[in-house]
Amino acid sequence: MNNKVTLTQFLIEQQRGLPDASGTFTLLLNNIVTACKQISHKVNRGNLIGVLGSAGTENVQGEVQKKLDIITNDIMINALNWTGHLAGMASEEDDDLITIPAQYPRGKYLALFDPLDGSSNIDINLAVGTIFSILRCREGVEPDIEDFLRKGAEQVCAGFVIYGPSTMMVLTTGHGVNAFTLDQDVGEFILTHPDMRIPEETSEFAINMSNQRFWEPPVQRYIDECLQGVQGVREKDFNMRWVASFVADVYRILTRGGVFLYPCDLRDPERPAKLRIMYEANPMAFIVEQAGGLCSTGREAILDIKPTGVHQRVPVILGSKKEVERIIRYHQEADAKGTETAKGMG
Ligand code: AHG
Ligand code: MN
Ligand code: MN
Repeated sequence: MNNKVTLTQFLIEQQRGLPDASGTFTLLLNNIVTACKQISHKVNRGNLIGVLGSAGTENVQGEVQKKLDIITNDIMINALNWTGHLAGMASEEDDDLITIPAQYPRGKYLALFDPLDGSSNIDINLAVGTIFSILRCREGVEPDIEDFLRKGAEQVCAGFVIYGPSTMMVLTTGHGVNAFTLDQDVGEFILTHPDMRIPEETSEFAINMSNQRFWEPPVQRYIDECLQGVQGVREKDFNMRWVASFVADVYRILTRGGVFLYPCDLRDPERPAKLRIMYEANPMAFIVEQAGGLCSTGREAILDIKPTGVHQRVPVILGSKKEVERIIRYHQEADAKGTETAKGMG
């Protein structure tokens, strides 16, 4: 491994640039990296070790859990709870906040994570991932829910690992976005994609088309125009991708641009959105915006939302800046028209 920069070297060199860095953050990240290497090993071995298929249980989301949802959640918790860097954790797979066992010291950070994103893909051997978000916490207290319910703009770090043909870690600490590829022979993540930037323009959209009849008008309008192609108002043809793994769709957008939409949809009025703000939308919004993209609900910036619950769901529109700005504009125009109509009916 000639003069390749390892993730460890990258973090230590980045830490040197932060005068008040105590090094605990670097150690915490290294603990997360160890957990993700363990998850990569489990995912790669699949049914050789009997980890595929359903666990036959439901999580707080009311979703049937895969065996790997539970296995990966346990790996994350057991790799982090003893380190002394965390005051608490929250996971997609746990109803309540995860407290640090009494025998371990507490730290000044909170870790929130989706231990296995894209679970529906695990049994069909498509890419899945782990998404994590790090917040600072008040020191010397047991954190309460308000310590967790912080705007995405307050994150100190966000990252994800994609377990695909390569296992890759994408990371931001607020100083741009860098991606690392796991060298399986050495067991180290190597810097392979420094300073990732999302092209402002794109001709590729990602959405689950089967929900089309449930979308709000501005999303209908945007996708219709994409589908009209070169004969339509956009005067160009579009391509579509939908992996149903947030990590895979976001990674594609980081490498070649694009726009991802999991919009508000009216299938279930009780549940107008799917993606969870604390451990899916916020970390991805931090990463995408650090790479020059945008992330919005269509009506407000994801990073500016004050969360109301650890498992709160929000609409997510993210990716190439100019496309997201267009979709936001379509929401504004639709809402203004709605207001005019409402006034007219007043
Ligand atoms: P998770 O497996 O953690 O529940 O996340 C799945 C999410 C996200 O990864 C993906 O973009 C979306 O669900 C796919 O939703 P559909 O299956 O409705 O397309
Ligand atoms: Mn997920
Ligand atoms: Mn998940």
